[in-house]
Amino acid sequence: MAGQLNLSIFAILATVALLQSSVAATTYQVGDNLNWVVPGGNAAYANWAANKTFTVGDILVFNFRTGSHDVTQVTKQNFDACNGTNPISSITTGPANITLQTAGEHYFICSVPGHCLGGQKLSVNVTAASSPAPQPSSPSPTPVPSPSLAPEPTGTPSPTTSPAPSPSREAESYTVGDAAGWGVLPGGANAYASWASNKTFYVGDTLVFNFVNGTHDVVELTKENYESCNTNNTISLSANPPVRITLATAGEHFFTCSFTGHCPAGQKLAINVTGDSTATPPSSATPPSSGGAPSPGGSTTPTTTATPPASSGASSLSFAWLSATFLSIALALWY
Ligand SMILES: *[C@@H]1O[C@H](CO)[C@@H](O)[C@H](O)[C@H]1NC(C)=O
Ligand SMILES: *[C@@H]1O[C@H](CO)[C@@H](O)[C@H](O)[C@H]1NC(C)=O
Ligand SMILES: *[C@@H]1O[C@H](CO)[C@@H](O)[C@H](O)[C@H]1NC(C)=O
Ligand SMILES: *[C@@H]1O[C@H](CO)[C@@H](O)[C@H](O)[C@H]1NC(C)=O
Ligand SMILES: *[C@@H]1O[C@H](CO)[C@@H](O)[C@H](O)[C@H]1NC(C)=O
Ligand SMILES: *[C@@H]1O[C@H](CO)[C@@H](O)[C@H](O)[C@H]1NC(C)=O
Ligand SMILES: *[C@@H]1O[C@H](CO)[C@@H](O)[C@H](O)[C@H]1NC(C)=O
Ligand SMILES: *[C@@H]1O[C@H](CO)[C@@H](O)[C@H](O)[C@H]1NC(C)=O
Repeated sequence: MAGQLNLSIFAILATVALLQSSVAATTYQVGDNLNWVVPGGNAAYANWAANKTFTVGDILVFNFRTGSHDVTQVTKQNFDACNGTNPISSITTGPANITLQTAGEHYFICSVPGHCLGGQKLSVNVTAASSPAPQPSSPSPTPVPSPSLAPEPTGTPSPTTSPAPSPSREAESYTVGDAAGWGVLPGGANAYASWASNKTFYVGDTLVFNFVNGTHDVVELTKENYESCNTNNTISLSANPPVRITLATAGEHFFTCSFTGHCPAGQKLAINVTGDSTATPPSSATPPSSGGAPSPGGSTTPTTTATPPASSGASSLSFAWLSATFLSIALALWY
């Protein structure tokens, strides 16, 4: 009896240990809301990966519409050359989950002609599994994928027509132009007007402008200067992609590119920002200087800081509950 008891306690402890260790892996949605597409610029996925740390056991989720793209792992040479011949592996069904099995560099492209050359390529440098001190982050177990993980091909962040958001609405991050990114688009000014047309922006939301470094910038202007494409006097200028602008004030906001000819060609975005309805306003950590210049290169977004606590709180809560239950069962059996 005592042996059985010890065994079951051991099993419980082993299960708990397993839960804890499996929790260490991180799931990344490649490109976040951009998903796995031909992005607006060559650097989109390099920028996405730039300051992330990938560890053996982490999972990359490539979200794409089956038939439109694939995920092809290739050598460095073929990655640089955008050559999908003789790949290491290829997955043609989206979304594709790839667990990073080995340390070192891993190279992924889309083998559909033109897509890799258009920037649909990702390289990651994977470090060996768990050293004692893995992340500077809190001990929150959150391999929880972002809510927009559903097989949604184009990456429009808000799936519904967003009528009357609940008071607990969390800040959204919008990729301007979605897959097309920030550039001079064939549709002219209508392209961004129609992109914005069915979205409701709230104070605290973030706009993400994707473009190739050095080919565009993001300037905010007054309405008058926006309409005349006069970029001599700007409210702010951000040149370091991806540019993240947190919408700090309600009302109209006007953005364009200060490169010669780009504004007249239609690279311009006007949006209306609705007053704060969220329960999670930007924290004091991000001083949203009203009308002032956001730091070039994108500041921290309240989106990323606002999201984790809810889910990690929930999961640590259930974890605590589980542990307590196990413990009380074990104690009850013991005595
Ligand atoms: C593409 O890669 C394959 C296999 O690595 C190689 O044989 C072929 O020559 C490459 N094609 C080009 C155009 O580089
Ligand atoms: C891929 O991962 C996502 C998120 O973790 C999960 O919802 C989905 O079921 C996984 N798909 C496959 C095919 O494993
Ligand atoms: C990947 O990481 C290793 C070890 O830290 C380093 O030597 C190598 O240069 C890195 N490769 C790239 C492409 O950053
Ligand atoms: C928004 O509009 C675009 C084109 O006007 C359309 O493709 C897209 O499905 C719409 N999205 C929503 C959530 O209504
Ligand atoms: C963009 O280019 C500038 C100047 O060449 C450089 O200082 C900056 O680090 C680059 N930014 C990125 C994200 O590559
Ligand atoms: C912008 O500044 C340039 C150079 O100072 C000047 O030639 C041009 O007229 C100005 N444009 C407008 C619309 O004021
Ligand atoms: C913002 O909303 C106001 C009032 O509904 C409207 O007059 C204005 O044209 C809108 N501006 C933009 C940029 O959509
Ligand atoms: C990633 O970059 C953003 C913006 O440049 C910065 O705020 C954030 O701290 C960086 N994260 C890491 C893990 O370096």
